[in-house]
Amino acid sequence: MNFKHFIYMSIAILILSCQQNPANINSSKTIDAQVQELLAKMTLEEKIGQMNQYSGFMDFTGPEPDKGQAATKLDHIKKGLVGSMLNVHGVENVKAVQKIAVEESRLGIPLIFGFDVIHGYKTVSPIPLAEAASWDLKAIQRSAEVAAEEASAAGINWTFAPMVDICRDARWGRVMEGAGEDPFLGSEIAKARIQGFQGDDLSAVNTVAATAKHFAAYGFAEAGREYNTVDIGTSTLYNVVFPPFRASLDAEVKTVMNAFNVVNGIPSTGDKFLLRDILKEKWDFQGFVVSDWDSVGEMVAHGLAKNGREAAKSGVIAGSDMDMESYHYVEQLVSLVKDGEVDEALITDAARRILKVKFELGLFEDPYKYCSIEREKETIYNPKFKKDVLDMAKKSIVLLKNENNTLPLKSSGQNIAVIGALADDKTSPLGSWRIAADDGTAVSVLEGLNAYTKNNYSYSKGADVVTGKKQFTQELTINNTDKSGFPEAIATAKSAGVVIMVLGEHGLQSGEGRSRTRLDLPGVQQDLLEQVYKVNPNIVLVLQNGRPLAIPWADEHIPAIVEAWHLGSESGNAIAEILYGDYNPSGKLPMTFPRHVGQVPIYYNHKSTGRPKLPSPGEVFWSHYTDEKHTPLYPFGFGLSYTTFDFEELTIDNSYTENKTVSVSVRVTNTGQKSGKVTTQLYLQDEFASVTRPVRELKAFEQVELNTGESRVLSFQLQDKQLGFYNNDGEFLIEEGSFQVYVGEDSQAQLSSSFEL
Ligand code: NOJ
Repeated sequence: MNFKHFIYMSIAILILSCQQNPANINSSKTIDAQVQELLAKMTLEEKIGQMNQYSGFMDFTGPEPDKGQAATKLDHIKKGLVGSMLNVHGVENVKAVQKIAVEESRLGIPLIFGFDVIHGYKTVSPIPLAEAASWDLKAIQRSAEVAAEEASAAGINWTFAPMVDICRDARWGRVMEGAGEDPFLGSEIAKARIQGFQGDDLSAVNTVAATAKHFAAYGFAEAGREYNTVDIGTSTLYNVVFPPFRASLDAEVKTVMNAFNVVNGIPSTGDKFLLRDILKEKWDFQGFVVSDWDSVGEMVAHGLAKNGREAAKSGVIAGSDMDMESYHYVEQLVSLVKDGEVDEALITDAARRILKVKFELGLFEDPYKYCSIEREKETIYNPKFKKDVLDMAKKSIVLLKNENNTLPLKSSGQNIAVIGALADDKTSPLGSWRIAADDGTAVSVLEGLNAYTKNNYSYSKGADVVTGKKQFTQELTINNTDKSGFPEAIATAKSAGVVIMVLGEHGLQSGEGRSRTRLDLPGVQQDLLEQVYKVNPNIVLVLQNGRPLAIPWADEHIPAIVEAWHLGSESGNAIAEILYGDYNPSGKLPMTFPRHVGQVPIYYNHKSTGRPKLPSPGEVFWSHYTDEKHTPLYPFGFGLSYTTFDFEELTIDNSYTENKTVSVSVRVTNTGQKSGKVTTQLYLQDEFASVTRPVRELKAFEQVELNTGESRVLSFQLQDKQLGFYNNDGEFLIEEGSFQVYVGEDSQAQLSSSFEL
C-alpha cells in the first residue's frame, strides 16, 4: 500500500468509526463508565437536549402541534437539543432523522425512537384487555415478541407499552389497553409483556425497550372520564396500583411513563413522592422516566405551575427525566439551572439515565442498527406471525353463555344468517391503539366463517355502529341512529336456522379519549338484537368490544354469547374456530361485567362493608341497590368451556413456621365430553387484619389441558409475597390470624378451606 492509499484508507476508517461510534466513546469500558465519559464531554445544553423528546412529522398521538414547528425540531436535532423522537417510524424515516443527529450534531449522540406499539405494529394482536383474558402468559409474551420483532424492523427501538394501570371502571376508554382489574394477574402479565418486548438481550436487533405506564393511578380517573382527577386512598395505592409497576421493575423494564392525572392533588408528572421517593429511591429504578404527552405543560392547566418555567422546574425536581412534546425542558431548564433554581446534578442524573438505555440498546455501536431496508421488507406483515396472533386471538375469546349446547355449531348443512355491521368490518377488529397498522387488514367474521365451513351464510348489516370512518377524529365515537336496514336484517334472520349476530363497539370507540357514560350496545344495536330475536331466537351473539359491557337483556334471552373483543389481524379466523368448536374456549374475564353502568366501579376484590348481607327479609338497611342487584352479571375470572371441570380434595399443608410456605393442593377433573384447558384460580381472604383486606384476592393460577375424564392434582405454594399486604405507611406486613382459601374456575369459587398463620 502506498502512502496515498494509506491516507485514503485512514480517512475511510475514521469516517466509518465516527458513524459506528458517533460520540467516540471507548467501548471496552462498562456502560456506566462510557456514560460518564460521555457526560464529561457534554455541555449543560446538550444534557438538557437528551431530556427533550419531540413528536415526529407523521402521526400525532396527542393534540396536534403547530405544523410550523417541524423546522425548529430539525434544527434542534442538529444542535444536539433532542434526545428522542416519537412517531417517526419506517426505516427510511428513522434513518433520515437519525442521520441528522449522528452526523450533524456536535457529539453525534444517537436518538432513541419511541412509538406506541401497544398490541402489534402492522400485524395486530388482540387488544391488551383481550390478551389478558387468555391468562396465558406464554402466549402474551409471544405476542409482545412478535410486536417487537416487527416494530424494530421498522426502525423503532422503544415502545410505550405495556400499560399496567389497574382499572375498575369500564367507562374509561383506556381499559382496553390494560390487563383489567386485578393487581396479581396484572403483575404477571406486565412481566410477560416486558420480557416479550425486551427479550434477554436488549441490544439484539429484534428487541425494544419497554415502558411501564402510567405512573400512577391513571386507571382511577373519577367517573371513568379520561384525564380526570384521581383521589385514591393509600391502601389502594400500595396494594392495587403499585404492584404491577413493582413487578415491571422486577422484569427490568427500562422506562416508566408518568401519568396525566393528579393523585391527591399533585399531577403525577410533578409528584416527587411518586417518582423520586417511591420509584427511584425505594424501588431503586435505574431506567428513566418519560413524561406523557405535554404532561409537563399540563401542570399549568392543573393549577400547580403558573407557567412553563414553573412546570419544567416541578417536573425535573420530581424526577420526570424526559419531556414528551411540551418544549418546556428545552426552553426553560438552562436558565433554571443558571438562576440556581434547579440543581445541575438533577439534569446530569436524568441525562445519565437516558444515555444508559441508549448504550444498552447498542445505539452507540451502531445508530442505524434498526434501519435495514431488507429486514424491514422481509419482516413487515411476514405471514409467519399469523400463527402467533391467531393463537393469541383464540385464547382471548371468552364464552359467556351457552344454553342447551347451542355452540359449537355444526360445520355443514346449516342455513346461517349473519347480522351486524361489525361482521363485515375488516378495520374495527384491529381495535384502538394500532397507529401503524393499515385499515382493512383484519380478517372479518364473514371472511373467517366463509373460509372455514361449507355452511350457507346470508349476510345483512342491519345497522351501522358509528357514523364515521377516520382514525383520529370524533366521528368514530358517534353512534349511528339509522334503522333503515332493520327490515332486511329481520327478513334474513327469519328464514335462517341459526343467526350469528356480531354486535358491540367499533374498534375506535374505546382507547384514549374514548370514555363512555353507557355500557350498553352503542347506537341502535340493542333494538336490532331485540327485533331479530322476535323472529328467530336461535341467536349466537358475538360481541366485539374494548371494555366490559352491561348486557342483562342479552344474558336473559340469547342462548349463546361469545366475548370476542377486538382480536386483531386474525379476528375472523379465531372466531370461526371457536364457533365451530375446533378450539375449545378457554378465556376468563380479566374484569367484572356489570349488570348496569350504575354499579361501576364494580370489582371482585372489594372490601366488605359493615352490612354486607340482607339481615332479614324485607330489611332495607344493608349495602345494596333498591333497583338492581349489586352482584356482577359475569364475575372476574369467569368463562365457560365446551366441557366441564370439577374441583375437589382441597388440601392445605401449613408449614409456614418451618419454611414460610403454605401449600395448597386441589384435584381438577375434566368431567365433560371434550378435552379442554382449565384455568384453576386460587383466591385468599385474610379475614381480620390491622387494615381491612378484600373479601378475596387472586394469589395464584395455573392452566392445564385435560382430556375427557382426565384428572390432575395441582399444588400452589403461598409465601410471604402472597400472604402479606401493605399498611397505610407503605410497610409490608404479614399478620397472624386466619385465612380462607377458595379454589375454582372464577372469583365466585365456593370450594374452600382455611388455615392459621
Ligand atoms: C398519550 C398516552 O397517554 C401515552 O400512553 C402515549 O404513549 C403517548 N400519548 C404517546 O403517544
